[in-house]
Amino acid sequence: MMRSYSAPAKVILFGEHAVVFGEPAISAAIDLRSRVTVRDSAENLLNGMPLRRDSSPYAFHALELTESSPMEITVESAIPAGGGLGSSAAFSVSLVASLLGNGSPGRVAELAFNVELRSQGRASPIDTSTAVHGQGIFVSRETVANELWQISGPSGIWHIGDLRIGRMNIVIGYSGQGAATGPMVERVRKLCERFEVAREAISEIGSISLEAKRALERNDIVTLGSLMDRNQKLLSVVGVSTRRLEKLIQAVAPYSYGAKLTGAGGGGSIIALTDRPEKAAGAISLLGGVPYICRTGETGLRREEDEG
Ligand code: PMV
Repeated sequence: MMRSYSAPAKVILFGEHAVVFGEPAISAAIDLRSRVTVRDSAENLLNGMPLRRDSSPYAFHALELTESSPMEITVESAIPAGGGLGSSAAFSVSLVASLLGNGSPGRVAELAFNVELRSQGRASPIDTSTAVHGQGIFVSRETVANELWQISGPSGIWHIGDLRIGRMNIVIGYSGQGAATGPMVERVRKLCERFEVAREAISEIGSISLEAKRALERNDIVTLGSLMDRNQKLLSVVGVSTRRLEKLIQAVAPYSYGAKLTGAGGGGSIIALTDRPEKAAGAISLLGGVPYICRTGETGLRREEDEG
């Protein structure tokens, strides 16, 4: 038996951090993919090496949760790791799908979420659901229009809704600094406990996600850009932006409809919505950042090959 699936990377367009407090968020799949192939094997192997729980927790938990027999797993990925682009989710989703063979999208999303949860200790349903569905998703604590599936986690139930996102140019600027999600989430939690202004920022980010959903539905790039700028200001109020991220955002501003950090912040990446991607990428490189010129509207989980 041999099976192969691929899944895309993601960027959070709106609502990171606020989503932890129950506000809605929007995420989009982008055209960087990870592909996983599994083959029957006498022992568990990952890219030719014996698979161990401590060095390969995602593969270990995926095999365990799907109750799979030993497999040889091969990964080919164009998604940079550690940049907040969902590389581990794309891997977990493609692997779970390859192991299951014919899992429904909702089942794959749920299992891959649990793979991330067990491997990381905490996880957001955004990355894995975007990797499965592609296009765009709207994540909410409340029932959503066009609901795709629900994900139950330690903090309750998430409703995942379908959001059609057309082709847009997004330039990612990786700051070169790794982003650790846990400490940043903790930092925002503490700030919100102490300061009314931080709590207000979180709830305003939620309103921005709702406005952005409507702007996306009518393909209103100009409004989307200004909503990204507003979202960024609020993210800096809750303490997750950095000087380096602000500099990257300033550098791409002349070529962009809007720009903001994406994901946990404190490092990681910025995104710019632009119709001059080469210019925005050049500005990122000049500051020593790593640019990725990407497009939204990418398909989600896809079967690549199937034999035996
Ligand atoms: O860094 P990422 O892409 O995993 O995004 C983190 C998003 C947060 O909202 C900060 C955390 C979460 O669990 O949703």
